[in-house]
Amino acid sequence: MIKIIDGKAISKEIKDEVKEAVSGLKEQGITVSLAVIQVGNDPASGVYVGNKKKACEYCGIESVSYELAEETTQDELLTLIEKLNKDEKINGILVQLPLPKHMDEDAVIKAIAPIKDVDGFHPQSVGALCIGQPGFVSCTPAGIIELLKRSNVEIAGKECVVIGRSNIVGKPMAILLLRENGTVTITHSRTKDLKEVTKRADILVVAIGKPKMITREYVKEGAVVIDVGIHRNENNKLCGDVDFDDVAPVCSAITPVPGGVGPMTIAMLMKNCLTSVALMQNQ
Ligand code: GUN
Repeated sequence: MIKIIDGKAISKEIKDEVKEAVSGLKEQGITVSLAVIQVGNDPASGVYVGNKKKACEYCGIESVSYELAEETTQDELLTLIEKLNKDEKINGILVQLPLPKHMDEDAVIKAIAPIKDVDGFHPQSVGALCIGQPGFVSCTPAGIIELLKRSNVEIAGKECVVIGRSNIVGKPMAILLLRENGTVTITHSRTKDLKEVTKRADILVVAIGKPKMITREYVKEGAVVIDVGIHRNENNKLCGDVDFDDVAPVCSAITPVPGGVGPMTIAMLMKNCLTSVALMQNQ
């Protein structure tokens, strides 16, 4: 029987755990707060930022919003980040990407204090992840590991194939699967004979950015398929990188879109805000 991995339910479990921990901290007089910075008014970013603020509210985390105009200069943004870095009341700093074209994203990410880097994008966080040291982990791949574990999918010794090599998903995903003792292959747009590689996967993580590209010809019978993509199809309905109706009958478990990986990203962000509190206390 195919199992539909319910990201919505699992993300609620995690948010409830965070909510309880936040309420415990409140009893000790400690508040948890996240600064959310959005520059410009990209509508998709607006939706993501709105969902992050809603999750904060649910968990009892205070969100402090900065909605900056498209014309904001990079120096102005860096000055704000510097101020938030020093502000003891702020635990996490999130700068919603993409930034307007006149800004250098790498320079902005690097300006965030690593101790408040709840997105896990800072080079120090990425480096720590690569060498197995504690630090913030990018929320989407961290959420996928959590989905697999809470769905009782064994990773150790499994053939894991990741499609996509972005800094936010593909690369950290591969490192995390390796950390769980999977045998990991990363594929990308220049991979020769992609189907031949993906058909070896016991666990296939798809973050390719092309609607419904992965059909059953890419999937081994009984594989676990994780779909990171999110798109609107011709009927304005949400769909992923995986052709769900075609693939679901041949795999043992699959994440739907919506309601799979998406909600997990936000739940892990909430969890990272708690981690930041612990790091700041141990400073
Ligand atoms: N843009 C798309 N995904 C993300 C994310 O996880 N964090 C931030 N900051 N921006 C994004």
